[in-house]
Amino acid sequence: MGYITFILVLALFTHSNAQDLIVNIPQGALRGSIDIDRVGNEFYKFMNIPYGQPPLGNLRFRAPVAAEGWEGVREVNTEIPICFQCGYAGCPGSEDCLYLNVYTPEFPTANTTLKPVMVFIPGGGFTDGGPYEGAQHLITEDIVLVTISYRLGIFGSFSVDDPELGVPGNAAMKDQNLAIKWVHDNIKYFGGDSNNIMVFGDSAGAASVHLQVLSPMSKGLFHKALCESGVALFDLMNGVRNNGILVAQQLGIQTDNLPEMLNSLQQVSPWEIFTAQQTLTAEYPLISTPLVEMESNEPAFLSDEVITLIQTGNYNHMPFVIGHNNAEGLFRHIPIKQATGQNITITDFTDYIPPDLLIQPGSEEETIIANRIREFYYGDTEPSPTDIIQAIQLITDYTFAYPSYRAAVEHVRTAQYPVYFYYFSADTLLNIFKRTEEVAANFPGASHTDEKGYLFRYSNTPEIESGSVEEQALARLVTLWTNFAKYSTPTLENDEIAWEAITADTFNFLHFDTDRSTLKTGAPQPENMAFWKQLYDDFFPARK
Ligand SMILES: *[C@@H]1O[C@H](CO)[C@@H](O)[C@H](O)[C@H]1NC(C)=O
Ligand SMILES: *[C@@H]1O[C@H](CO)[C@@H](O)[C@H](O)[C@H]1NC(C)=O
Repeated sequence: MGYITFILVLALFTHSNAQDLIVNIPQGALRGSIDIDRVGNEFYKFMNIPYGQPPLGNLRFRAPVAAEGWEGVREVNTEIPICFQCGYAGCPGSEDCLYLNVYTPEFPTANTTLKPVMVFIPGGGFTDGGPYEGAQHLITEDIVLVTISYRLGIFGSFSVDDPELGVPGNAAMKDQNLAIKWVHDNIKYFGGDSNNIMVFGDSAGAASVHLQVLSPMSKGLFHKALCESGVALFDLMNGVRNNGILVAQQLGIQTDNLPEMLNSLQQVSPWEIFTAQQTLTAEYPLISTPLVEMESNEPAFLSDEVITLIQTGNYNHMPFVIGHNNAEGLFRHIPIKQATGQNITITDFTDYIPPDLLIQPGSEEETIIANRIREFYYGDTEPSPTDIIQAIQLITDYTFAYPSYRAAVEHVRTAQYPVYFYYFSADTLLNIFKRTEEVAANFPGASHTDEKGYLFRYSNTPEIESGSVEEQALARLVTLWTNFAKYSTPTLENDEIAWEAITADTFNFLHFDTDRSTLKTGAPQPENMAFWKQLYDDFFPARK
């Protein structure tokens, strides 16, 4: 190649073509599209970009492999195919789903000042969901937003305890990790700053963010983390080891020759895999979740217990925000009410014994703990469907509040950067998730995932009136999140008050309410946190 030709090729390679909406990255050329943000400005979307090879055939269940390039211009204007999952509406989605979306307010040119990057990991209990969050709210700030997809259910959690087989578990976590690595390596072509990447997520996506913070695979790939209602200490984080054998048995596949077994399982239809998953879920509710990986010949995503990694400080240190909503528990009530017309009622308190206490089912300890929980939340009264307050509070505390609080307290002991905490109770028309059911809609505050209605636009997001309480709360939350992305400190508009980090002595937290944010100390609902802490003090250390 002549020198001049080389220069020309290099110029083509590094420059973007604004008229054609074409961005060139090492994999090839991409043509994006234009959309309009919440305040009426244009932004640019590059959707459905492959970061991993389709995990099909003998790549099924395995760690992802980086995507290949393509010839010509790839049109990237359609939604990502959601990863294979089954729900009320059948089984939408595809196993070929390792794609991500990039959104930027400014078409990247040679002159673009690189912007802070926010990578969103969606939630859905590791079994469903997908990156359908609209960028219209966050993109009004000067950031580049990325949303990613990752394998769900058994497809992302299959594990067999055989070092040679190459399926040690956590494929879904490795998908996320490969997506973040793609962002780190490629976001500069979209005007994003690869030295200023924040990873955030909600629910299982937040637990995933926490796991990425803890994983040696993520070292150097991102620079700050924010967990919305989910941490790696919550009860979903106790995946079933060797679930691959259970899946094979369920499908009547021989398990005496493991390579043959794996091969057979890689040939069957995704529907059959799902059917096995569905059947196994009755006995193993956590069949599809991340776990401490089995020994293998390949790099491990997670090879130690979460609590051990936090307590030894053996993780990727960075500024960290953790928080949750006040009425998370509504997410259990809503589907029950919709399906049966009945309010949620707690019948079995043993369901609320944290699995990491390793209490034997049927043991005396189990009864003691279940009674303690019942007494704390209900006193002498019987759980009844006429008043859901106690049930919502118990589910909120058990599933999200205490694990989040505990993660924050434990991190502060070893963290080299500030750890911030928030408590979200804003209640406006943007709480679109709780507003899908009447009892929930009338319950004060925010259900699980309600904060996402402020950060992203959904098909059922209402019209946002200028100057309304919705717009003000939305702007306040978007400013906090994007300021954390920009400056590593979440600050408030006009610097009215500073959101201070937790210290060794003081549990500072930001109470994000409908019309104001207030810095508080102690803990959100300190008596409840003290109750769960006592339970851990009494039953957890004995086994360590
Ligand atoms: C980039 O900046 C240079 C120098 O300021 C200017 O001449 C050029 O027009 C700019 N290019 C674009 C695409 O904005
Ligand atoms: C359901 O719970 C709400 C709120 O606690 C209560 O007002 C309502 O009466 C309950 N409905 C029934 C059928 O018990």
